[in-house]
Amino acid sequence: MVTLENITHHDISICRPLDAAVLLLCCQVIEKNVDPETMLLPYLRKKLQLTGTKYGCGGGGCGACTVMISRYNPITKRIRHYPANACLLPICSLHGAAVTTVEGVGSTKARIHPVQERIAKCHGTQCGFCTPGMVMSIYTLLRNHPEPTLDQLTDALGGNLCRCTGYRPIIDACKTFCKTSGCCQSKENGVCCLDQGINELPEFEEGNKTSPKLFSEEEFLPLDPTQELIFPPELMIMAEKQPQRTRVFVGDRMTWISPVTLKELLEAKVKYPQAPIVMGNTSVGPEVKFKGAFHPVIISPDCIEELSVVNHADDGLTLGAGLSLAQVKEILAEVIQKLPEEKTQTYHALLKHLGTLAGCQIRNMASLGGHIVSRHLDSDLNPLLAVGNCTLNLLSKEGERQIPLNEQFLTKCPSADLKPGEILVSVNIPYSRKWEFVSAFRQAQRQQNALAIVNSGMRVFFGAGGGIIRELSIAYGGVGPTTICAKNSCQKLIGRPWNEEMLDAACRLILDEVSLPGWAPGGKVEFKRTLVISFFFKFYLKVSQILKTMDPVRYPGLADKYESALEDLHSRNHWGTSKYQDVDPKQLPQDPIGRPIMHLSGIKHTTGEAIYCDDMPVLDGELFLAFVTSSRAHAEIVSIDLSEALSLPGVVDIVTEEDLRGVNSFGLLGEPEKLLETQEVFCVGQLVCAVVADSEVQAKRAAKRVKIVYQDLEPVILTIEEAIRHHSFFHGERKLEYGNVDEAFKVVDQILEGEIHMGGQEHFYMETQSMLAVPKGEDQEMDVYVSSQFPKYIQDIVAATLKVPANKIMCHVKRVGGAFGGKVTKTGIMAAITAFAANKHGRPVRCILERGEDMLITGGRHPYLGKYKAGFMNDGRILALDVEHYCNGGATLDESLFVIEIGLLKVDNAYKFPNLRFRGWACRTNLPSNTALRGFGFPQSGLITENCITEVAAKCGLSPEKVRMMNMYKEIDQTPYKQEIDATNLTQCWKECMATSSYSLRKVAVEKFNSENYWKKKGLAMVPLKFPVGVLSTAAAQAAALVHIYLDGSVLVTHGGIEMGQGVHTKMIQVASRELRMPMSNVHLRGTSTETVPNANVSGGSVVADLNGLAVKDACQTLLKRLEPIISKNPKGTWKDWNSVSSRGYESHMNWETGEGHPFEYFVFGAACSEVEIDCLTGAHKNIRTDIVMDIGHSINPALDVGQIEGAFIQGMGLYTIEELKYSPQGVLYTRGPDQYKIPAVSDVPTELHVSFLPPSQNSNTLYSSKGLGEPGVFLGCSVFFAIHDAVRAARQERGLLGPLKLDSPLTPEKIRMACEDKFTKMIPRDEPGSYVPWNIPV
Ligand SMILES: Cc1cc2nc3c(=O)[nH]c(=O)nc-3n(C[C@H](O)[C@H](O)[C@H](O)COP(=O)(O)OP(=O)(O)OC[C@H]3O[C@@H](n4cnc5c(N)ncnc54)[C@H](O)[C@@H]3O)c2cc1C
Ligand code: FES
Ligand code: FES
Repeated sequence: MVTLENITHHDISICRPLDAAVLLLCCQVIEKNVDPETMLLPYLRKKLQLTGTKYGCGGGGCGACTVMISRYNPITKRIRHYPANACLLPICSLHGAAVTTVEGVGSTKARIHPVQERIAKCHGTQCGFCTPGMVMSIYTLLRNHPEPTLDQLTDALGGNLCRCTGYRPIIDACKTFCKTSGCCQSKENGVCCLDQGINELPEFEEGNKTSPKLFSEEEFLPLDPTQELIFPPELMIMAEKQPQRTRVFVGDRMTWISPVTLKELLEAKVKYPQAPIVMGNTSVGPEVKFKGAFHPVIISPDCIEELSVVNHADDGLTLGAGLSLAQVKEILAEVIQKLPEEKTQTYHALLKHLGTLAGCQIRNMASLGGHIVSRHLDSDLNPLLAVGNCTLNLLSKEGERQIPLNEQFLTKCPSADLKPGEILVSVNIPYSRKWEFVSAFRQAQRQQNALAIVNSGMRVFFGAGGGIIRELSIAYGGVGPTTICAKNSCQKLIGRPWNEEMLDAACRLILDEVSLPGWAPGGKVEFKRTLVISFFFKFYLKVSQILKTMDPVRYPGLADKYESALEDLHSRNHWGTSKYQDVDPKQLPQDPIGRPIMHLSGIKHTTGEAIYCDDMPVLDGELFLAFVTSSRAHAEIVSIDLSEALSLPGVVDIVTEEDLRGVNSFGLLGEPEKLLETQEVFCVGQLVCAVVADSEVQAKRAAKRVKIVYQDLEPVILTIEEAIRHHSFFHGERKLEYGNVDEAFKVVDQILEGEIHMGGQEHFYMETQSMLAVPKGEDQEMDVYVSSQFPKYIQDIVAATLKVPANKIMCHVKRVGGAFGGKVTKTGIMAAITAFAANKHGRPVRCILERGEDMLITGGRHPYLGKYKAGFMNDGRILALDVEHYCNGGATLDESLFVIEIGLLKVDNAYKFPNLRFRGWACRTNLPSNTALRGFGFPQSGLITENCITEVAAKCGLSPEKVRMMNMYKEIDQTPYKQEIDATNLTQCWKECMATSSYSLRKVAVEKFNSENYWKKKGLAMVPLKFPVGVLSTAAAQAAALVHIYLDGSVLVTHGGIEMGQGVHTKMIQVASRELRMPMSNVHLRGTSTETVPNANVSGGSVVADLNGLAVKDACQTLLKRLEPIISKNPKGTWKDWNSVSSRGYESHMNWETGEGHPFEYFVFGAACSEVEIDCLTGAHKNIRTDIVMDIGHSINPALDVGQIEGAFIQGMGLYTIEELKYSPQGVLYTRGPDQYKIPAVSDVPTELHVSFLPPSQNSNTLYSSKGLGEPGVFLGCSVFFAIHDAVRAARQERGLLGPLKLDSPLTPEKIRMACEDKFTKMIPRDEPGSYVPWNIPV
């Protein structure tokens, strides 16, 4: 097989409608029969076996598939390198381009590239699934800018998501390429980390001054741009010399036409008027993939010069429709440098939106023409182009014409639209005039790479001064089926002076004209209405401010307090520190325990050589399985018609309930769950049947042809409130009582009752559910390769489904691309069905879920409703607490009961409530079953408690921190379940966090800021953490390890833990290395398998390294003990023994009858302090700084541990602020991909993030006195929630709103804006509840 490094798609010059293409790799691989429907991603992964490029979403939203495209322009003689999403790149569009994949950047076999080395060595990889995409984004940046600025770096990473690391280490790695990497480069307010005394606050000491660094920059390979792969000269020659002619590719269903001249393009358009003109494919591609659009013919112009024009005329700029949005951004940035500001108002506004529009990859693929003609309702540029009086230059066989980009065009009015044979050649963007001002506004769920909820372009022209409106244009996106212009309002305002009366009149007129019904698609209706006028208010302020600078005598301008309303909240420059204790100087240098060792697979993650389930090569005779799922929340299945699906080519079988008769259910936690359901469905997304076909494409096509007739059934219970009304619970209440609550309520000063609702969370592991079942052909044996946290469970369910003993089924997990609790129960069900199909047909069967299917089927974190009644004294002491928890469990029990139990056991968080009653219920609803997710009930339960404390503090007129401290456990105490607790380190963490964050000084600074700013507020909050670690039962707290020592002295370690990014294999090798006193390089670990370690428990609950580490340690010690006499007799002898040792784990038990037990082994303590700034007019927030202090005992590997804390914190921050699942009133999950569901991106990381460990204390029961850290950090994300809460409260207080403040989680821009009530929120029309059916409902 050829080693393919640099793929060069080359010379597809076929003028006849033929079906052949030549794909030239560096070593000339010829590809016949290019199918125009094929995207580069599957082509790389399946056809070329270049599996380094990953699938994460298929829609351009995650960046896992990033590759570098290089193109040579024979006219400018320049090569353009840009990042692109391979999932949206049709291979036919790559003629003449060189494609560099991660394999071409570097590999362990050849040479690793400095980008790869630094990301790995700076600990920027955990599960590693996002890593190749990150590498490619940064690699491409460095090809263009070998010494990038931090702005360029943050920009380059904006289109790449990572669910594990929290981005800080990736940013750190990339910063080493920046010119001034020693500095935070945070020039906000004009100061950086090197300038001491910002706001007169003591500066945080940089990590390298206080503790050893987690990586050493000195050892990094230098970046040498001369060593990079050159652009293939043959492509240059081809571009220079090749005769230009249209290329045509004919596939089974689609024809791809690539004209290379304008004339040919027009001819093609006349011939196929309905065919889309595909440029970047970022609009057509997702429509084909997700909305089922199909185009038999596609016209894709290739390098047509006229489409790339850049003309500077006297009245403005003309930009070719074929220019990418990234090129437009560069051109505009250059132009505004050269021209006076009064001419470039529209360009400034466009640039602002181009900075946040999508990620770098999409901006480089998407064209200006494609963007304009698509006319998406949330287009960021069209509102600006419309208000900027832009015109479109069109061309057809009939000739040229010009049309305005106005409302008629945007609403696709036939008289103002392109005609069928017409194409858009270029766009004229006029210069602005003196006394003309243009602004851009947008608010999205996330700062960057998120479609706007509402956006707007606004322009005013005053003529020759005078402050009288001569022209006014306002356009909005996100509030209608396309961009909407407030034309009538603008007309009515002409002639009015720019003053407060005009503002008031304008708001009313606009609200009237841009009206939005209560049921409007996308929901958030009142928020959108508010944004519409809040944006206008911002525009009013901005123009007033400029008028003042232009003529201070005539225009008084703004009050000082209003000025900050004009600043945008963007965190672009990040810096962080980690402070941990170095190992004892007496520790042997070769002993790796306590040292920041890089993740064992770190380098392989960055080179793309780390193998995940779907990276395994296609096997002989392999089939693909695709599920058909229910589209109703509760219905009887009247009939299923499989005939059409079965008749399609390539379809081998459809597995139904009938096939699984007798084995169609399996139970993990008591209540068996059905595998397939063909009689009655209980949620949308329930598995009904599974199509098995020769290929993925065939299986998926056939799955869409299965026809199911439903009869809806009652009741349909979707929300917790509905479940309570219907008394729909999985079991009776779970209860924990301590002291005497009722008596205590009689003696307290005050009683408060409240509730908080918390939304669920999607796991969003980057690797979707994946499995491959391979029948061995003998003795009914089967190998199951699966991305799962629980191989034993997979083994059991598959064995039960195939009616064979467990010893016939071996389950193998090399590594998992993120799991977070979501790869246990549903994975088992899908693996069982896949294995059933494999067994039935005696052929390997693969099943890989697409992102949308995965999100629909698998459920996530439980939404919660917490109700509380607190009895407290006026000084803030809480004496009695009565709490009720309800979680939305979905349609099946899954782990819901366990989640409720853990939530109850942890509801006290860090507080000693002398009298309390906790009760909990798991609600049965018609949603996909919710399941475990990092933190397991604690992030919800802890939030409920902290919210109660925040309210108590408000009632007492005290700061929440004071009330928190007052009620905290102190030294030796007892938990509600009567387990002893030593809380010394809790207090220590709290004090340390107060000190490192300079809490008191910053609190004063925040208050000062708030008193000086009306429309921006800051908030500061600190929360403590007590996270009990343990798994409730002794049986679940066991682990085993198998250690082989081979005769050559090399060691193979196997244990029951799964490597899902947390670095457990790395830690296990560290343990073996210490115990066997040999270098880590001697020890190897191949993965996890039921073949080597039987009956291992699920990997989860923060105990994987603890328990398996003890097992590895025991195994090594036993071996050493046996070998010691031999070794001492003959120290030069060789190893020759092996052993398997099962280690005893932790003692754990809990008696729910008595409410007593020892459910946990130990407690992890911590505290986090976060500061935010909110924009009261838009609901945006910026994470300014977070300080985290954790008591983690003796860290086995500080780099991995810091990574776990930060990653969990950012995941928690997402949970509590931006991650919002949306369900329709019929129970359909709308948010089924990164476009709709926003996990934190690089721009959401706090500008400053400081993590430090408490000096270690002894913890005798645990592995080398270390503590498990996988989950605790998630909860600390709520410090951001409460900081926002603090800021909102400040805003409300200033507006005289002193009553109770109820804020639910997640605290999204919508909730922030609507809580900051003001004259604008009062002005909007409100709909009578019940008078309409909302687009979505909170569950
Ligand atoms: C992940 C993702 C994130 C995004 N985020 C944002 C965002 O934050 N803000 C935002 O505003 N947009 C966003 N978008 C939308 C994006 O801006 C558009 O998809 C893009 O601009 C379309 O350009 P294209 O070249 O890819 O169009 P294509 O998909 O190639 O074509 C789109 C349409 O335009 C027509 N067309 C193209 N060129 C011409 C021409 N010269 N003459 C006539 N018709 C033509 C085609 O016929 C086709 O119907 C996002 C898209 C994705 C995939
Ligand atoms: S897989 Fe291409 S962007 Fe997600
Ligand atoms: S390391 Fe980034 S997704 Fe796992």
